[in-house]
Amino acid sequence: MKRSKGLYGFLFACFICICMCMAGARAAQEGLPKDEKREAKEISAAAELDDTHPEIPEGVTCADCHEIKLDANTTATQVWLTGDYAGFSTGTGIMDNNRVKEAIVKAMGGKKQRRTCVLATCINNIPTSSTAEYTLDPQEMALYGVHEKGTAKLAHIKQNPRFSLNWHREFKNWGDTLCIQFVGSAELFDGSNPEFERVLKEIYPFEEGADARKVPHDKYVQMAKQMMLISKLTIEEATITNIKFRENGKRPWQRWVRSNDNRTNVKAEK
Ligand code: HEC
Repeated sequence: MKRSKGLYGFLFACFICICMCMAGARAAQEGLPKDEKREAKEISAAAELDDTHPEIPEGVTCADCHEIKLDANTTATQVWLTGDYAGFSTGTGIMDNNRVKEAIVKAMGGKKQRRTCVLATCINNIPTSSTAEYTLDPQEMALYGVHEKGTAKLAHIKQNPRFSLNWHREFKNWGDTLCIQFVGSAELFDGSNPEFERVLKEIYPFEEGADARKVPHDKYVQMAKQMMLISKLTIEEATITNIKFRENGKRPWQRWVRSNDNRTNVKAEK
């Protein structure tokens, strides 16, 4: 009995060796070392490693090799936006895209108004958030900020244009909740770009800063062109939470989307 177990073990080991040789030979035949033949496929955010997984070098994250799929149908936000939740049945209480936009513009103010926001940028997988003033241009649905040159967030944007920005009114009680989360793509302009002066004059309320420093407006614009950079955040998606929407029979969570690509499956009621 003992002997035959040993024999089976030996045969099994031979079998494994042959398989490994064959796999190696096939990879060599195709001109690539066998590890490079292994492909990192799309995985879900909940995926876990098993012991057959290739070794992961230190400091490398799952997203460096895999595309991570967020299951947009079952996340809490998605349920709040469209699902059976808080007295709303699936697909009801959803505002039209234009109505959501109006609500966002109302909360953020339009041109020549500004809000103190928190901007999140990411570089080398390290996120950073910073406080910054932004003005919403409702026509373009873009946010503009004017910044001193040389700060970390600007270096981040240069390397990685993806941003997330949050504005919220200080929460005092649940009935008062009002906040907006924006995501999209950022770009920078310096004073040599004609957009710089246009944005200052037509959109951003630079006059406040000029008046506070008692600098004539024209002179302030010239100074800003030398010392500052403008960031333009083009919004792709904005999610607003406003408890007051309930008063009109709508969900407190609504989302504006720039285009109907597959970033979202929110459909407004007709
Ligand atoms: C250095 C690149 C790299 C990193 C980092 C990495 N993986 Fe992978 N992963 C791979 C490769 C390559 C495969 C395919 C392996 C194979 O074919 O045997 C794989 C396979 C997988 C699979 C099997 C997928 C399938 O459909 O067969 C899962 C699940 C997985 N990885 C999860 C993760 C998770 C979770 C992390 C982060 C903790 C991670 N991986 C990090 C390269 C990577």
